[in-house]
Amino acid sequence: MAGLRGLCNWRIFPLLFFYNDGMRYETVNNLKLPKIGFGTWKIGGESQADPSSDPASLQALCSALELGYTHFDTAEVYANGHTEELLGTAIREVGVSRESLFITSKVSPEHLKFDQVLHSCENSLDRLGMDYIDLYLIHWPKVGMDLKESFRALNQLVRQGKVRHLGVSNFKLRHLKEAVAQSETALLTNQVPYSVPERTYQTNGVLEYCQQNDILLTAYSPVKRRNIKSNPVLKKIAAKRGLTSQQVALAWLVSQERVITIPMSTNPQHQKENLQAGEIVLSSEEMEQLG
Ligand SMILES: NC(=O)c1ccc[n+]([C@@H]2O[C@H](COP(=O)([O-])OP(=O)(O)OC[C@H]3O[C@@H](n4cnc5c(N)ncnc54)[C@H](OP(=O)(O)O)[C@@H]3O)[C@@H](O)[C@H]2O)c1
Repeated sequence: MAGLRGLCNWRIFPLLFFYNDGMRYETVNNLKLPKIGFGTWKIGGESQADPSSDPASLQALCSALELGYTHFDTAEVYANGHTEELLGTAIREVGVSRESLFITSKVSPEHLKFDQVLHSCENSLDRLGMDYIDLYLIHWPKVGMDLKESFRALNQLVRQGKVRHLGVSNFKLRHLKEAVAQSETALLTNQVPYSVPERTYQTNGVLEYCQQNDILLTAYSPVKRRNIKSNPVLKKIAAKRGLTSQQVALAWLVSQERVITIPMSTNPQHQKENLQAGEIVLSSEEMEQLG
């Protein structure tokens, strides 16, 4: 990564400067998290690292940091670990303090045995160049997994201070309840797909369970779907309020109790618009129209 140093020292950001004073937060168990964080899937590659995209990837991460995003979501599987390396590099380049950030990473379903969890976490810490991860998630449930064993390792990581909070991702109710029971500390989140057109985790009872048990539902792929742009209700509200459909889609999410979200964008203008969506308050009538 040495050859990439200095990439973040371009300052186009007076143009984009945005002071996100009005960002809304969720507070659970004395932890305060912004409603809008930043996703990193496809930054640095997909299933494999794509070093040819490093300059663009670093610029995307640096602009997100400079715009004021503080919660970054990554995973060991993203670009086969390379996304974590890029994130760590961007943070050091921008020079933002580690303590001001909240870093989420994830252990893959193939690494859920006791030793594998510990090993995956060490590797993520090395790639990030950090000595702790704020939030560590089981990325996906796996058929036949032994959550008791996985959480034995995850709980140990928390006790050792290598991880500050635990969570899960893509867990339906049965597994979510099991994870809550196995975690020695309050389970912080279940990260799941949730957006105006994607309601699986609303209809299957996970959202309600999270809201009733002070667990954050982290909505992923919040603006990805093509029908966000063409959704007539989103379009109508956006036009009336001078916003984009994506901003209204994000505002709908962050207006919900215990819901936070992590849109990804490589485009600084989109990054800024997404961050600003954390300030938008929709009326009860607009919320009703979106269902
Ligand atoms: N736990 C899991 O299994 C899981 C699964 C999927 C994702 N995630 C996490 O959630 C994050 C977000 O999900 P995602 O990346 O799948 O989807 P997403 O953030 O909903 O959508 C990303 C796409 O939307 C575009 N976009 C973003 N903001 C926009 C805006 N304001 N206007 C127009 N287009 C916009 C981006 O293009 P531009 O770059 O051109 O803006 C990009 O193509 C991921 O990056 C990852 O960290 C987790």
